[in-house]
Amino acid sequence: MIHLASKNRYDKMTYNRCGRSGIKLSALSLGLWHNFGSVDVYDTAKDILFHAFDNGITHYDLANNYGPEPGSAEETFGKVLHRHLKNYRDEMVISTKAGYYMWPGPYGDWGSKKYLVSSLDQSLKRMNLEYVDIFYHHRPDPDTPLEETMAALDQIVRQGKALYIGLSNYSASQMQKAESMLRKMGTTCLIHQPRYNMFDRWVENGLLEVLNKRGVGCIPFSPLAQGLLTDRYLKEIPADSRMAKSHGFLQENAFTDVRKKAIVQLNELAQKRGQSLAQMAIAWLLKDKRITSVLIGASSVEQLYNNLGALGNLHFSVEELQHIEIILKPTLKQ
Ligand SMILES: NC(=O)c1ccc[n+]([C@@H]2O[C@H](COP(=O)([O-])OP(=O)(O)OC[C@H]3O[C@@H](n4cnc5c(N)ncnc54)[C@H](OP(=O)(O)O)[C@@H]3O)[C@@H](O)[C@H]2O)c1
Repeated sequence: MIHLASKNRYDKMTYNRCGRSGIKLSALSLGLWHNFGSVDVYDTAKDILFHAFDNGITHYDLANNYGPEPGSAEETFGKVLHRHLKNYRDEMVISTKAGYYMWPGPYGDWGSKKYLVSSLDQSLKRMNLEYVDIFYHHRPDPDTPLEETMAALDQIVRQGKALYIGLSNYSASQMQKAESMLRKMGTTCLIHQPRYNMFDRWVENGLLEVLNKRGVGCIPFSPLAQGLLTDRYLKEIPADSRMAKSHGFLQENAFTDVRKKAIVQLNELAQKRGQSLAQMAIAWLLKDKRITSVLIGASSVEQLYNNLGALGNLHFSVEELQHIEIILKPTLKQ
């Protein structure tokens, strides 16, 4: 059955221009790395997508390997889109990626033209799409010439299989080189997707500046440090959490004593601001105008609504920002 989307969905969201492009993205975007695989409950995945769209989230982020099983998040997304949301395809920005291990042999990993082109063809089939809006190279490849990877991305855009190009996990200097190459070919880089949250600040050492100067958007992933920056981790590891499920992506050694202390202190500050910790962690990223959108994950509709609530208070006083830095200082030394 076709889902009838909320009529006032666009009044509930703010939209930020992506770098110096023509595209605006919702301030929150939804990632399908976890919770949308073949091992997850289809109806929950569907409900999260419906509520996200009904609340003005226009951008949905995938990758070839999201699941588990790898590829199954794209299949779930394709099913929900075609069964229930197909009238709204043109109101969505759908991204996918290739760059991590996807299939055996020398052509299913990293950054060769062979891998990127065939992987995107597979992703389009899994999602039953003619094109994606953004195709990312998922991580830099130290062994493939950058020229080859960028030429593959340029070709993909010229073939109409992707409208825009994105790069993920590239350092500031890699980004400068890649962006210049793409620009010379006539295909600008729309956006960069780095990990960025209160516990992981590497982008502040040059990358954000490069993106800003070059007019490239920025969409931080894991804004909640995969769930650590929420009130679920105030005492112990929650039984049904990503950490407890032990897929290996969020290991117990990330929950250090120093972080535990910081989570409690940050939660107290969030409460004083009238926010949940998750909301404050998202707002803390969006306070920087160089951030186009924050790419969240959610394992339930409740979490999604909690995160959407971040938009209610994006302002921080100087004192609050200083207080946050004091709390985080011991965690940044780890
Ligand atoms: N480019 C890359 O290399 C790369 C890498 C990683 C991710 N990404 C992208 O970024 C997206 C987001 O990453 P992420 O899932 O790590 O983001 P995240 O927002 O940091 O973590 C999401 C997890 O936090 C918990 N959570 C979310 N909202 C909550 C709330 N309000 N209260 C309590 N817990 C809450 C849930 O975990 P529980 O399951 O424990 O409930 C949820 O699955 C991915 O889906 C993917 O699209 C990209």
